[in-house]
Amino acid sequence: MKKLFITGVPVRGDDFTGRSKELSQTKYYLENGQSVVLVAPRRFGKTSLVLKVLEELQESGCYIADVDLFTIVNKKRLAETIVENTLKNKKVLSVATRIKKGVSQAFKNPQLRQTIEDYEFVLKFAEANVDPEELLETALDFPQTFAEKEKKDLFFFYDEFGEITKFNGEHLIKMMRGKFQRHPQVCYIFAGSHESLMKDLFTKEKSAFYKFARVIYLEEIAFDEFSNYIQRRFKQEGISISHESIKEILGKTRGHPYYTQLLCSSIHYIVRNSIRVNACSLKSAILIFAH
Ligand SMILES: Nc1ncnc2c1ncn2[C@@H]1O[C@H](COP(=O)(O)OP(=O)(O)OP(=O)(O)O)[C@@H](O)[C@H]1O
Ligand SMILES: [Mg+2]
Repeated sequence: MKKLFITGVPVRGDDFTGRSKELSQTKYYLENGQSVVLVAPRRFGKTSLVLKVLEELQESGCYIADVDLFTIVNKKRLAETIVENTLKNKKVLSVATRIKKGVSQAFKNPQLRQTIEDYEFVLKFAEANVDPEELLETALDFPQTFAEKEKKDLFFFYDEFGEITKFNGEHLIKMMRGKFQRHPQVCYIFAGSHESLMKDLFTKEKSAFYKFARVIYLEEIAFDEFSNYIQRRFKQEGISISHESIKEILGKTRGHPYYTQLLCSSIHYIVRNSIRVNACSLKSAILIFAH
């Protein structure tokens, strides 16, 4: 469903606005083999920015993969997701799931068969009593194994990385660091919303990930960039909005990406049958927004 103002999910394509500095900075580091970590409060646009960078890297021929740790319930699932999402670069969808349904069945599919033969490790997912720790240990190395075999650079994104602490973090974090630093063909991107936790993980001297990745702090979206976007969006619906009104909106939200989209969406709801945003409609929307 096409929405005028997107709220709550990562923005893609022309719904993404601004951030030119952060985009080129992130891409520059990654293209030069430097892992990065994005730190910002909730709903600041971390996931959107990384997905955009990944999209561009993929268009230039690189391999990409991502895992959202927020959605991962246990170590076995983490191992499976790392492998599945890495293998998606070969367009073999849900290898692990298909193998679990039946190894012999999976072998009947020629493309899947080739993948299984190339990466025998995926067969472990079919074993009933496999040790999840062991599985995860090998899975963490899988992006490098894969990139090396495919002769490609791979960019791997761990979203909501702070969630790693829910798996008895310390040992796993140390293991990850130990492994990742030996992955010459994989560059890592981390993002997380628990600002203090993320800072601790990546900037504290005694932390395993100390100085492993360049820290990028996301700020609000610049006034001019957001202003043009808001104007364009309303214009798309035949509604005109003055520079003063936009200034008032951005003054209220201070350029916070999510709240700006939310306020604009409330204004649109109020004025959708008019041709311009007037002082009265703006005031009502801001009142609703303030509550
Ligand atoms: N570059 C952008 N252009 C326009 N809107 C944006 C942009 N980035 C983020 N937003 C707005 O912020 C919302 C949240 O974006 P996103 O999910 O990327 O943020 P996040 O920091 O990853 O959030 P979370 O803390 O929930 O993980 C989007 O739904 C959208 O309303
Ligand atoms: Mg996010």
